[in-house]
Parts: sequence; structure tokens; C-alpha cells
Amino acid sequence: MRKTINCNTAWTFHEGFSADLAAAFRKGEAVNLPHNAVELPYNYFDETCYQRPFTYQKVVAWRPEFEGREVALVFDGAMADSVVYLNGEQVVAHSDGYTPFTARLTDRLVEGDNLITVKIDGSENPAIPPFGAQIDYLTYAGIYRDVWLRITAPVSIGNVKIETPDVLAAKKTAKVRVDIANPRGLKLAGRVSVTLKAADGKTVGHADASYTGDSVTLELKDLDGIALWDVDNPNLYEAVVELVHESGDDTLCVNFGFRSVEFTPQGFRLNGKPLKLRGLNRHQSFPYVGYAMGRRAQERDAEILRKELKVNVVRTSHYPQSPWFLDACDRLGLLVFEEIPGWQHVGDESWRQLSIDNVRSMIERDWNHPSIIIWGVRINESQDFHDFYTATNKLAHELDPTRQTGGVRYITDSELLEDVYTMNDFIQGNEELPGANRPRTALRLQGETTGQKKPVPYMVTEFNGHMYPTKRYDQEQRQAEHVSRYLSILNAVYGDPNISGSTGWCMFDYNTHKDFGSGDRLCHHGVMDIWREPKFAAWVYTSQCDPSEEVVLKPVTYYARGERNIGGILPLIVLTNCDEVELRYGADVVKRVKPDRETYPHLPHAPVVIDQRAFSAEELGLWGMKWEEATVTGYVDGKPVQSVKFAADPVPTTLAVKPDWTTLSAEPKDSVRVAIHALDQLGNLLPFLDEAVHIEVSGPVKLLGPSEVVLKGGVVGFWLETTGGAGDVVVKVASHRFGETILTLKAG
Ligand code: GAL
Repeated sequence: MRKTINCNTAWTFHEGFSADLAAAFRKGEAVNLPHNAVELPYNYFDETCYQRPFTYQKVVAWRPEFEGREVALVFDGAMADSVVYLNGEQVVAHSDGYTPFTARLTDRLVEGDNLITVKIDGSENPAIPPFGAQIDYLTYAGIYRDVWLRITAPVSIGNVKIETPDVLAAKKTAKVRVDIANPRGLKLAGRVSVTLKAADGKTVGHADASYTGDSVTLELKDLDGIALWDVDNPNLYEAVVELVHESGDDTLCVNFGFRSVEFTPQGFRLNGKPLKLRGLNRHQSFPYVGYAMGRRAQERDAEILRKELKVNVVRTSHYPQSPWFLDACDRLGLLVFEEIPGWQHVGDESWRQLSIDNVRSMIERDWNHPSIIIWGVRINESQDFHDFYTATNKLAHELDPTRQTGGVRYITDSELLEDVYTMNDFIQGNEELPGANRPRTALRLQGETTGQKKPVPYMVTEFNGHMYPTKRYDQEQRQAEHVSRYLSILNAVYGDPNISGSTGWCMFDYNTHKDFGSGDRLCHHGVMDIWREPKFAAWVYTSQCDPSEEVVLKPVTYYARGERNIGGILPLIVLTNCDEVELRYGADVVKRVKPDRETYPHLPHAPVVIDQRAFSAEELGLWGMKWEEATVTGYVDGKPVQSVKFAADPVPTTLAVKPDWTTLSAEPKDSVRVAIHALDQLGNLLPFLDEAVHIEVSGPVKLLGPSEVVLKGGVVGFWLETTGGAGDVVVKVASHRFGETILTLKAG
């Protein structure tokens, strides 16, 4: 039987690397994984500080069960260039920061203690993708994903690929290919079986076969009562694969779903039905700790995307992301555009070979995820490169004929070697360039981009971003413009049936190199800030859901007399899925306005825009008088369903401290995000309250980042990480104006 043991604890960490470290254990800092080699401040730092080597060591004690079996350490991801040594001898080197690798320890393990040394070089080595030029994100050094100790029989299940052809037939089929790992070259003969289980544990299919080669495909036909996987009902099945060989048995369980996906010239189809893709790009970074966040933080990001922002697709820009994130996408019904590491630059032949290797690693790791709908096999925003991209496409199609390929570009008339023309369309805003002499347009016409006469499968993979960087606490008018840009592009995407969908740039603000962003090493490009706190633009996405799922009513205003130029709050955009919105100002002014279908005819839910036209001259005159409170109420089917009330005299009342959850694991490295909001007497955010906050924690947790932080526009966030052990976690958040708020969480 296979054993997979988590190997995240009891590592020792050293600055630098030297040959003697490979062979001898040295006392150092005790760390657990995922680990970030250098902690960074929130912003303004020197990103070269982690671009150097580091060493991790761990002692693996001999276990009797190692005897005669295959033993390996599996690294889910380490940045950027790794070499693994066992008792001083090099066992594997891996030159990619985003794909997994395995260090085979078999035959070299001794009875007693075995020393694992991992050299991690965080340098931006131009020989390795994505490096060689500038990149607009950071690649934080460290063993930043999980490590596993895997013990199997000498012959074991190497990988499993499941295909579900013809899912629209009444009776379903699953083709399960089992690839056999046989590193000792033993004679292959035995039996393989596959049992398919539904979520309730019931068996829905079984097949077995004998094998004599290193791969065997079992076809399970006429499967009855199978529920398709889709974005609303992400039904998952489990394939329990068992392998019998004279050297021992092996079992591997793989999740998958029955679904079909297709990008056509007339849009995207899921299970044969059109579905407009509405989504965002995601980097995998977090403040202070970079990439080094474990399972729950990864899952939480997927949940924010699907459940809070209500998007149905995410692009893992610009690299394969955590398996935990992808598993969560499968469970949540969040479609995924996954792509190989890279950013604009293409290196020499050996660089390109590493990139081709990345295509293989990505696809072989992730081909069973029903959420993944397309493989990005081009370096993001690179120029055309016939031979290179012919090779990446060929390999992707060979490995996985069930999915189409895309290749994200920003250039027009580019050679289409992929199945889908995937385009970063940053046209909106270009009209502002001096001498642009072009009308404002949300998107390019497809033909203008592709240079093709006929429509091809087409997706807009980025927009906005650097064209309109917006901080969460920027002036209201800028926020309104930010929102309008998202609205108009989404409207254009919805309005063109030939566009499969879009992923805006991007989910949240991220730390970056000096060459990008606002000079503070931050790209303020998110619809959320770095803490995953929404900007107004986030509600452009949220408000597109059906009100039966959630009623959304978000007026794009800080509600103040003089925040905007000239004053007042008009035109007021209300991001909503209500049929009608009422604005009540003071005692006498009451206006009902319907969604602005004229400007946004194609959106599932156009916003309500309340402008001067709704008011008489006399009423408009009132706006310059005494500032009154206001209430915005949303109506569905003629009934009031939600109200937001704004105070005319907001005063600081509450410092709300809100954790995403209150129960943590007793294992180390579990985490929770906590948001701090300064609120007025009506529970609205105080958008300009920049107050110092002191955070103190006790119990089996560690605070990530500093204990003194400042609210930025009334909000700040932090993450707590468990250190191992059960007990109460007490969090004290104190500030001068609000006093102390105490929160108790539980670990264990
Ligand atoms: C794109 C790029 C992204 C990000 C974005 C900013 O060109 O693909 O990674 O830099 O611009 O808007």
C-alpha cells in the first residue's frame, strides 16, 4: 500500500548555500513549510533581497517500511531553482518555481538518520522561465508549497488520466488510463482495477484488466445516473485505482467530473450549452509571505472568486498554481485557464526547452481537474515564435486531446497556432493618448485583433489593469470611472456572442518589481486590495449574479457633500441586481430609477445610474444646502429587498474585526484572514480614517506581518498562522479612537 506522509514540519533554514551544507547538518532556524525565505514589508522594499541562494535541511529517520520499497520526497513547488541532496549526494535538480518535482531516495537511504538538504536559488536566473527580462510580479524564494514523503511498492501507479468522452449521451463513459511507474525495470504483469464512486460513496462503475506494459486503459461504459459537472452543480466523482503486482499493491484516488468544454467561433460551451465566461486573473501572492500560504488560504481565494465576486472563471496568471487552489475550483464550479510560467520574454533554446517541459509538467499534474478548460501554452504576451509555439501546442495536444490551447498575447495579427485566440485587450483608455485620434471603445473588434476574416474561438484574457490603476481609497470619482470601465467592457463582452468571455486584470493588488506599479512595489490593479478587501469595482462582478442567489446593492459613493469635484454624489452608480432602486434624500426627495439598459444593454444586471436628470432644478438646489442623510433601497418584483442608509454626519463608532473563520487546525501553518474595518454609526466604512492599529495575539498562532499597522482608507487586514497545538487564540486589536476589540478563535 502507498503511504503519503506530509513532510512540512521540522525543517532547518539557512541563508546561503555551501557544499559542506549538503553533507552535514547544521543548526539553524527551525521552520515549517510552506516557507518564504525573506519576509517583505507591505510595500516599498528592495525585491533583490530574496534573489539569492538559501538552504533547507531535514533529517528523515529510517523506517522499517522503507525496506525494499520506493521512497521519494515530492515537492509541490519551490522557487526558483532547486537541488536536492540526500546524505551529501545530489538526487535531483529542478529549474522551475511552479511545477512539482520528485527526489527519489530509494537505495540511498541508510538505517539511522538521513540528511535531506535542499538548495533553493531565488535568483532571477535568465536561463530559467520566466526570467531574462522584466516581469510584473514577484517570484518569492523558498519551499513555498507542501512536501510529501511517498512510500510505494517497487511498481506503482505513476499517473492516471481520466477522459469522459461524449458526456451528453444518456449513458456515460469514462476512459481511465493508468500509467505505471517501474523505476527498477521489473517485469510488468498483474491486474489493474478502477472503481468509480459518487460523492455519496456509492459505486457507479467498476472495471479491471490485466497489464503487461507500462500503461493500461480501462473503459467504463454505460454508466447510469451520472450527474454532469458544471459551474452551478460541480458534481465530482472519485476514481479509485488499484494496481496489483507481485512486488506489492498500490491504490490511488483521483477526483474528476463528467463535463465537456469547447471554445467555438460562436463562444464557449459547457456541456453543449453556451456559457459566457466572466472572470478575473489571479496571482498567487500574499502580503509579507509572498507565495508561502498553505491550503486554506488557497481555498479561500477560490471561494472569494466564486462565492463573493460570483465569477465563473479564473486565469492562473502567469503560471500553474497550488493544487489546493485547483481542487477548490473543482469543488466550487470555478472554471480555470491555466498557463505555463512566463512574461513577455522568450529566452534561448535551452530556456525554451524548459518552457516546453513546463507544458508537460503542468498538463500531467492537472489533466483530471474538471475545472480546467484550456491550457495556456504561450509565454504571456510574448511575440510570435513559430517553432517554439508549434512545439508547445503539439505537446499539449498529444498529452491532452480533450482540451483546447490558448496563448495569451497583446499583439494583433498574431500567428494563431493555438485553438483559441486569447487576447489581452487594453484598448479602452487609448483614446486618451496624445494624438490617438480614435473614439473611445471598450474592446477591439475581433477581426481587428486576429487579422482573420472569419471569427475564430476568441477570449479576452486581460483588460483594465495598468490602463486605470485604482487604489481602494482613491477619490470617489476615480472609483466611479474604474467601475464604469469594468461595466463597459463586460457589457461589450456580453454583447458579442463570438467572444467566449473575459478575465479582467485582476483579482487583487499585488507586489511587484520596481519597473511596474505605483513605485511602492505594488500594482494597484485589483478589483480588491492586497488583503482581498473589495474596491467598488468588485461589485461590478458580484452584481451580475441572480438576486435569488444574493441581492446586491452597492452605491458607488463615500456619501459626502464635497468629495467629488464640484461636490455632490451625482451621477450615482448603484451596482445592483435589483429591478429598481429608490434614493431617498432627506425627508422630501424620493426618486425611483431603473437599471441603465441604454448604456449597458447586454449585462445580465445593468447598474442603476442616478444622475441630474432625475431631479428638478429646485431639488438640485437642495444639494448645495444642508447635507442630509440618504437611503438607497433596492426593489425586486416591486418589493423592497435591501437598503443602505448613509449618515450625513458620520462619526467613528466601531472597529469591526472580522475573521474569515473562527476554528483553526491544531496542525502548524493553517491560517485565517482577519479584516479590520472602521465603521460609522450606521455600519458604513469610514473611507478616509487612517488610524494606527496595534495587533496582539496569544495562543498557538503567529501574526504574519507587523503588529503595528495603519488603516488605509478605513481598512486593513492581516493573516494569522497556526504554530501547532490546540488551544484558545486571543486576538487583541487596539487603537486610540476605538479602544480594544478582543476576538477569541479556537485551534484544534
Ligand atoms: C499585462 C500583463 C499582466 C500585468 C498587466 C497590468 O500586460 O500580462 O501581467 O502586467 O499587464 O495591467
